[in-house]
Amino acid sequence: MAATPVLEGELVRLRPIGPQDAEHMWQMLDDPEGMRMTGTTATFTRAQVDDWCATVAAREGRYDWAITHGGDEYLGEIVLNEVDDHSRSANLRLALRPGQRGRGFGGEAIDMVLDHAFADAPEGLGLHRVALDVLSINPRARMLYESLGFVEEGRLREAHRDGEFWCDVILMAVLEDDHRAARAADAARRAAESEAARTAEAERRAHRADDH
Ligand SMILES: CC(C)(COP(=O)(O)OP(=O)(O)OC[C@H]1O[C@@H](n2cnc3c(N)ncnc32)[C@H](O)[C@@H]1OP(=O)(O)O)[C@@H](O)C(=O)NCCC(=O)NCCS
Repeated sequence: MAATPVLEGELVRLRPIGPQDAEHMWQMLDDPEGMRMTGTTATFTRAQVDDWCATVAAREGRYDWAITHGGDEYLGEIVLNEVDDHSRSANLRLALRPGQRGRGFGGEAIDMVLDHAFADAPEGLGLHRVALDVLSINPRARMLYESLGFVEEGRLREAHRDGEFWCDVILMAVLEDDHRAARAADAARRAAESEAARTAEAERRAHRADDH
């Protein structure tokens, strides 16, 4: 399996997780909201986290990136795991540290990982399908995934215990063609926005010229 590559975006840089990330990953495991939203019920010792960070880059069938912004610090992570070379599919998961949410990092990181996942090998992974699951108590993540081309494929009713209550597990996936379509729609939207901005600027200039 190829090594986890560094991926450069406009906002974030994704780099392989390493031993230096253990402290921040350990802190993230102490965030009740994050644990609830990801449905994490397992508990880990600091020694397990140290060992995980030191060895995860060499594990087969997965790519684990630290999400960074304007430096090298681990702000969260995005992971492609369960990579299946036969069906060309994988599973995606991500989480950011509490102070880093809602800044656009998650959305850009997903887009970058999907670009890499669906790009032809050897530059990309040549995947056909990327799936994930999201809890029904997590509308922020679900809306974000939808906006990036993920489609709901099914719902495991009351499959997860959320404190006193149950919640559904929503199964979503994006296919390579869905991603290309989402990318093309995004490019068309950006082009229309810059065209509208150019027209508005030209009109402003014309008005200024009229005033003189
Ligand atoms: C889910 C998560 C990874 C998203 O990353 P992020 O960097 O916060 O996401 P972004 O800032 O790129 O985008 C969030 C989008 O959700 C929208 N949003 C925020 N709160 C929302 C809510 N309650 N309902 C619906 N949409 C919401 C934002 O408006 C934004 O959309 P926009 O880009 O159109 O403005 C991050 O919030 C996180 O780590 N949450 C805790 C762990 C988690 O839930 N992991 C996912 C498990 S499936």
